[in-house]
Amino acid sequence: MNTTSTPAWQPDTWRAHPARQLPAYPDEAALAAACAQLRQFPPLVVEGEVQALRAQLAEVAAGRAFLLQGGDCAESFDTQGGAAARETFRVLLQMAVVLTYAAARPVVKVGRIAGQYAKPRSADTETQGGVTLPSYRGDIVNGAGFSAPERTPDPQRLLRAYSASAATLNLLRALAQGGFADLHRLHGWTTDFVRASPQGRRYEALAGRITETLNFMAACGFTSDSTPQLREVAFHTSHEALLLPYEEALTRPAEDAPIDAARPWYAASAHMLWLGERTRQLDGAHVAYLRGVANPVGVKIGPTATADDVLRLLDAIDPHAEPGRAVLITRMGAGRLPALLPPLLRAVRAAGRPVVWSCDPMHGNTVTSANGYKTRDFGLVVQEVREFFAAHAQEGTVAGGLHVELTGQDVTECRGGGQNLGDEHLAERYTTACDPRLNGSQSLELAFLVADLLKARRG
Ligand code: TRP
Ligand code: MN
Repeated sequence: MNTTSTPAWQPDTWRAHPARQLPAYPDEAALAAACAQLRQFPPLVVEGEVQALRAQLAEVAAGRAFLLQGGDCAESFDTQGGAAARETFRVLLQMAVVLTYAAARPVVKVGRIAGQYAKPRSADTETQGGVTLPSYRGDIVNGAGFSAPERTPDPQRLLRAYSASAATLNLLRALAQGGFADLHRLHGWTTDFVRASPQGRRYEALAGRITETLNFMAACGFTSDSTPQLREVAFHTSHEALLLPYEEALTRPAEDAPIDAARPWYAASAHMLWLGERTRQLDGAHVAYLRGVANPVGVKIGPTATADDVLRLLDAIDPHAEPGRAVLITRMGAGRLPALLPPLLRAVRAAGRPVVWSCDPMHGNTVTSANGYKTRDFGLVVQEVREFFAAHAQEGTVAGGLHVELTGQDVTECRGGGQNLGDEHLAERYTTACDPRLNGSQSLELAFLVADLLKARRG
């Protein structure tokens, strides 16, 4: 029996813990007023959806489904009239089709979208030409432009983040359910710049085979009208749980949970949240917040993480070892993964923990090009994914998912891939608000590679 009664978890419990990466708001009363308004707003997601995603992730942990999580490094309040979200959604559908076909298993679709507005930074300030200003921390905090008014953290941005998230989520729900995601329309998910490429042609060939199958099934009576599974997808949202005042204000009691249930709260800002590599201190505010919400929780695991670190984080966020709760997202770097990941896989398996292992092949492979762009080499991204699958095959664990920064648009931010982008191309269409993303053609190429790895696993 626990005699030293610990007070029950509350959405603001994190405030008693040291918090890294939070901006210093000059006007605390304005922050409190914005949060008070957020508390009056409807939840962006409901608990039933969160539980549905947990059930899907439990299938991933058991090796019966595959997780595809992707989107911008950082979203911008400039939604481009919806094009930004639609293009991300479109390429995720293409990738999901390729993976579903290869694995012959469901693909759990999760966007880094509709709320990915906060960024951790290595320095609190930035100096240009003798002027020092707060660092840009994402559109939810301040503006990217280098001026004092832009860079001053502005609580009104929390409200704008809520509306931008709501608008994006509305579009995504419409696309997921309103016909755009219908398997009969899979030819239409390709853009012109991808169509002529080798992976574009490979996709068209696959789409042709699927269409033939759909025609056969239609003859048997399975049409989009009779079979909603052909017409709709379940699509979920996620972002890094970084800006805790925002997350706290959008934390809601789980409607149907009995009053005395162990976890009566959920984060209503997105279906899934993750803990960044820089904010996963065991005694820190971010862990303190995430342990109390019922959502699936991702944890970024970098090259310095020890097996002990991982096990203690799991004790904190998933004390009851519930399948579908914890997603370990590893970002080790190509070449380093083969030495670093297997000890973690062994330790987590030995502890009997049913986690989802997902591969982030982006963040361990970031470099600066000779002409000054933050970039990533497609070849190294591919290498880390291969190493991830090999490590799991070696240890007998499940390579459960892929976590990527991408856009369906024709950007030039990562080098290599079928278009063979080099340093000289980076300046052409480098539009990311933060880290370099795979473009539509590189994303599809990566999906085909993972498809081959999943097929090999099927035997
Ligand atoms: N509903 C199924 C699924 O989500 C099949 C499906 C419909 C689908 N549209 C899709 C799969 C688009 C991938 C992409 O898996
Ligand atoms: Mn990033």
